[in-house]
Amino acid sequence: MTIERQPEPDLMNGEEQALAYAQADFSDPHENFIELFKQSFPGQTIDGDVLDLGCGPGDIIIRFAKHFPDSHMLAVDGADAMLALGQKAIEAAGLTNNITLQKAYLPTDAIAEKNYQAIISNSLLHHLQDPQVLWQTIKRYVKPGTRVFVMDLMRPRSESAAKDLVEEYSGNEPEILKHDFYHSLLAAYTVGEVEEQLEREALLEFSVKPVSDRHMIVIGTW
Ligand SMILES: C[S@@+](CC[C@H](N)C(=O)[O-])C[C@H]1O[C@@H](n2cnc3c(N)ncnc32)[C@H](O)[C@@H]1O
Repeated sequence: MTIERQPEPDLMNGEEQALAYAQADFSDPHENFIELFKQSFPGQTIDGDVLDLGCGPGDIIIRFAKHFPDSHMLAVDGADAMLALGQKAIEAAGLTNNITLQKAYLPTDAIAEKNYQAIISNSLLHHLQDPQVLWQTIKRYVKPGTRVFVMDLMRPRSESAAKDLVEEYSGNEPEILKHDFYHSLLAAYTVGEVEEQLEREALLEFSVKPVSDRHMIVIGTW
């Protein structure tokens, strides 16, 4: 038995909250995101359009653009506070030619239709009250051959297990970040729940896999 899911607000629009998130050290999980993407699609290069859903302050897309310098990233988020921090980070990284940010609140039809080689998303799913929104958005924008790679937290078995993870991975971070991490863990879905979400959208070629004590990935090619 796992504890019941406790939803959290979807957008991260508070300036203090966005800044704490942008300043946190996510280098391990975010570098792992890129590594797992490469391992999931071995030998396949990315040199075209990539869509990032729920990009936050841009750390993942900046890493992605550095690994795949011939790609062009469109990264969307519904929170102005996050997009402002993302724009600064992209400018500081000298990647304004590689990455475009757009304000978009999912579900939406306002994202440009392109031949996306990849659609990626990190840590958006657990924010959504209706998780089908993520899978329906992906279905809406994939083209034949689009590689889909989603990473998110997994809900722990108990509140005390969630507290242990917070101490282990963000013990030295500011209180606001620890608070958000704890509530994100409680808002996360389980592997079984994500499998059901995929079944509901008939995304049968997609698979779900736990990759750490707190993360799972969903991968598939359309
Ligand atoms: C935990 S952050 C992850 C940010 C980034 N992907 C990363 O890994 O660093 C989740 C982001 O999803 C955004 N978000 C939540 N619900 C959304 C929605 N319905 N449409 C667009 N963005 C949303 C939040 O504003 C927040 O920036």
